[in-house]
Amino acid sequence: MKIARNACLGCIIVILLLLTGVAGAIEPIRVVLEFVPDIDNGRRSFDICARCHLPEAWGNNDGTYPQLAGQHVNVLMKQLLDIRSGRRVNPSMQPFVQQRTIGGYQNISDVVAYISTLPMNPKHAKGPWPPDSVEYREGSEMYRQYCASCHGQAGEGNNERAYPRLQGQHYTYMARQARMVRNNLRQVKPSMAALLQRLNADEFDKVLNYVSYLPVPPADLAPDAQWRNPDFQ
Ligand code: HEC
Ligand code: HEC
Repeated sequence: MKIARNACLGCIIVILLLLTGVAGAIEPIRVVLEFVPDIDNGRRSFDICARCHLPEAWGNNDGTYPQLAGQHVNVLMKQLLDIRSGRRVNPSMQPFVQQRTIGGYQNISDVVAYISTLPMNPKHAKGPWPPDSVEYREGSEMYRQYCASCHGQAGEGNNERAYPRLQGQHYTYMARQARMVRNNLRQVKPSMAALLQRLNADEFDKVLNYVSYLPVPPADLAPDAQWRNPDFQ
């Protein structure tokens, strides 16, 4: 009886911790959203980001740096705040998003607003299996079954809930992130982590391969892959 009661108390504590954890992650986004962004200041702050993410915010095909262009504002903010606090481990970028370097919430709001003015990379890195392959079809079925409920049927994500847009993200980057999630090196929604841990390496490659071919709406893309950000010429 006593053990049951203690176990129950344990449950309540775990549930409370989970709830405050979720609220703790969303709350700072709300605070940053209160600021009216200054895009000119955002462009100046982006100078340092461009050294890694490139002036177009397209990242690179080998997946070292993710594409930031086209990502939802709330997702960008959440990732910046998580990296700043160390909740998301990113040793190379962490020094550049501290109060002493980028500044306060106003500056975070500004740089995110600037990033969201940039068009997306028309030629991001894709996986090895093209749309006419069996592997692609298998990936497509798994995507619908396991991922679309959060990331959307077309991989469009959800700004309100800070679910990342997956359209246009480099395959190489996503594969690395997924491995990090599996090895508990990146915290994501516990249900997504559990899911990724259930899929085997083969299933995993196929579903991310499929994601990498999800079309980006043409209106969101730069005119061609040679486009260069005129603000940084
Ligand atoms: C020294 C290189 C470097 C600099 C400078 C840098 N970043 Fe990053 N950034 C990275 C790397 C590497 C990752 C991916 C880390 C990983 O694999 O988990 C990343 C990830 C991100 C992400 C998460 C994207 C996603 O889809 O999950 C955001 C948002 C981001 N950076 C924004 C910025 C902004 C804004 C700046 C400027 C204030 C900046 N970064 C400066 C290297 C850098
Ligand atoms: C329960 C909702 C949920 C499900 C289901 C889910 N995800 Fe996620 N996913 C998230 C959230 C939330 C994040 C962002 C976590 C964070 O804030 O760092 C994320 C992040 C990602 C990222 C990293 C994106 C980036 O820009 O860094 C990838 C890749 C990804 N998910 C792929 C998948 C795939 C593939 C599936 C299906 C096998 C899947 N997810 C299922 C909610 C989900």
